[in-house]
Amino acid sequence: MNAPRHYLQFNDFSRAEYDYLFARTRWIKERFKRYEPHHPLFDRTLVMIFEKASTRTRLSFEAGMQQLGGSAIYLNTRDSQLGRGEPVEDAAQVISRMSDIVMIRTFEQSIIERFAEYSRVPVINGLTNEYHPCQILADIFTFIEHRGPIQGKTVAWVGDSNNVCNTWLQAAEVLDFQVRVSTPPGYEVEPERAGLIGTGHFAHFDDPMEACKGADLVTTDVWTSMGFEAENEERMRDFADWQVDEDMMKVANPGAVFMHCLPAHRGEEVSAEVIDGPQSVVWDEAENRLHAQKALMEFLLVGRIEGDCA
Ligand code: CP
Ligand code: NVA
Repeated sequence: MNAPRHYLQFNDFSRAEYDYLFARTRWIKERFKRYEPHHPLFDRTLVMIFEKASTRTRLSFEAGMQQLGGSAIYLNTRDSQLGRGEPVEDAAQVISRMSDIVMIRTFEQSIIERFAEYSRVPVINGLTNEYHPCQILADIFTFIEHRGPIQGKTVAWVGDSNNVCNTWLQAAEVLDFQVRVSTPPGYEVEPERAGLIGTGHFAHFDDPMEACKGADLVTTDVWTSMGFEAENEERMRDFADWQVDEDMMKVANPGAVFMHCLPAHRGEEVSAEVIDGPQSVVWDEAENRLHAQKALMEFLLVGRIEGDCA
């Protein structure tokens, strides 16, 4: 049996594969908007394992699989054996014998890597402490929809150097754009943890205004990610000057868009004026999770479909 292809980090795919996926996402989205059925995954089963909360990821994977003709099963640690100490390698062997594709949201990246090693079917990272590749897949598709190719553009990341930030940094290396990151002292990007190979696509700025200067896309995320709740009070103090506000958007390029993976906290990492303002594309960004992940699941299970999405 051939080893399945997985999607555990953004740099698991090449630029050419992303070009295909973005084109395919557009095709799938347009078809969906015309209410034209598209069932390439008829009779296939997606298992979704959640060790952390989710609204968008669960909904987009579950709805997406159904729309592609398959079905989706939701497992969480509370009421499956996963929360009672069954080894992840054992769970992987069993779950992957009963399904066609697996999506996992968990804590350490090493957990999903161990699962993938023992899985007979493709495994997709639905968020770990280190990465959130499906989010950036949808975000870059959203940027392309609004502003065209991302190559050569500048993304400003303001706030915590978390899983979403790490994934932007990987994407910059794969797709050739710049990411300017501003974090408070003590929360800087750790290049090794971010999985960077050091291609000069990342720069750190102490001052968030400096990071936003001339950016084509300004983005941020919660100050306290899931799993880090014990640090919440300290983080509220440490991040207070890293709120994306109208002044930051003013120094960005005039056509800059604002993105946030959601859920958002108005008055913390972003002001209401920005997230609800004219430069914000957060609702398109959320919707595009659905279309991009449908393209991703189709690609992992069926491969490239030529001539259908130019
Ligand atoms: N952005 C995102 O992954 O949202 P959920 O946590 O709701 O899935
Ligand atoms: N960085 C956030 C993203 C949530 C979608 C977290 O990990 O909680």
